[in-house]
Amino acid sequence: MAQGTATASEPAHLTINGERLWAALMELARIGAYDDPATGLAGVNRQSLTGEDAEGRRLLVRWMEEAGLQVSVDEMGTIFGRREGAAAGLAPVMAGSHVDSVGTAGAFDGCLGVLGALEVVRSLNERGIVTRRPLVIAAFTEEEGVRFGTDMLGSAVAAGRLTLEYAYDLVDAAGLRFGDELERIGFKGERPVRLDPPHAYVECHIEQGPVLLHEDLAIGVVTGVQAISWQRITVQGRAAHAGTTPTDLRVDAGLAAAQIVLKVREMVDSGRYGRLRATVGLITTSPGLPSVVPDRAELTVDLRNPDDAHMAAAERDLAAFLDALPESQPAPGLGIDTQRMAKTHQVPFDERIQDEIAAAAADLGFDTIRLMSGAGHDAQEMAAITPTAMVFVRGQYDGISHNPREYSTPEDCTAGITVLAHTLLRLTEEEDD
Ligand code: GLV
Ligand code: MN
Ligand code: MN
Repeated sequence: MAQGTATASEPAHLTINGERLWAALMELARIGAYDDPATGLAGVNRQSLTGEDAEGRRLLVRWMEEAGLQVSVDEMGTIFGRREGAAAGLAPVMAGSHVDSVGTAGAFDGCLGVLGALEVVRSLNERGIVTRRPLVIAAFTEEEGVRFGTDMLGSAVAAGRLTLEYAYDLVDAAGLRFGDELERIGFKGERPVRLDPPHAYVECHIEQGPVLLHEDLAIGVVTGVQAISWQRITVQGRAAHAGTTPTDLRVDAGLAAAQIVLKVREMVDSGRYGRLRATVGLITTSPGLPSVVPDRAELTVDLRNPDDAHMAAAERDLAAFLDALPESQPAPGLGIDTQRMAKTHQVPFDERIQDEIAAAAADLGFDTIRLMSGAGHDAQEMAAITPTAMVFVRGQYDGISHNPREYSTPEDCTAGITVLAHTLLRLTEEEDD
């Protein structure tokens, strides 16, 4: 680490290197890049614990080491990079996010938070600024949940909501175990997974929605994350010949799956569950042949709601619908099985940290609004153990995300990470734990 006599009492002068930040985002996005046929763009597929994820992780570790950080990896594969502070014995301030991606990602989701925190460290090093508290960058494992079925996995185990055993025993669609895959890619670390609470946690992330774009603002202060419910529903029917089987004798798993898709949409449209969002993102039928009535269907239901009571009502009513579905079929014999994948309650962020972010942004001349996050984030897990809040950065194209069209401008990324830097400098100077 570059050492100098400067201290963080001059944060007003800290600028970050936006070009270097952008170059890092683009270089990481080359790992797992693929030609996306739907958009004609280059997308990113760097799902957790794949060879691509391992390559991205190795690059990150190299960059952290080159920046003088002390790197450690925990039992969940989460990577930490620590920059020492001037005062002994004070808890660090942590900033981070994730570098795993969905299968159809862009360059920014998660990566902006991790590489942005790295850019803050690189800028501090160049200026020879030594903060009072240590600064730790975290890149949490399997935030997306697309491969092993539970999102925010690394941070949830680190914060104690889920156990290591639960995580290790999750399997992907091919039946590969999380614990085995972690070992295979060489990132099963020794650091005990339960985190000692840092002094504070701040995550910068793209908004992944249209609000900031419509408000014509580069930066938002995040007030919390809405409730998330994921379940896998397996429908068991009876296979039969498509041409010869009378309709009233069929137990059609595909039909029942379609009824579930329509039901969740009706629930949204009813207005009875507040601002419910419902998505069936995965449906498969078996045997998957044009001339055979499906004997089995598998689908996922993703529900989101900013209000826990509305979410509970939606889950209860969906469960009642599923219970009654076999009775409503033309013939008896339909079976329905549900499996919980992920569930988190609405999480409010710490108001003091929100105020610090807003003040840092105001000092830098940015107007901000406060908004709730529609997507899940590692910050919602960290909020259970330490004062936490997030900085949102405006996205383009209605804030589309989980898609190769995802895009935030270099200027907006620089703005977000400059706000992150100044927030971290405020927090690292605080004395009391
Ligand atoms: C995380 O990306 C989520 O699906 O909310
Ligand atoms: Mn993310
Ligand atoms: Mn995501």
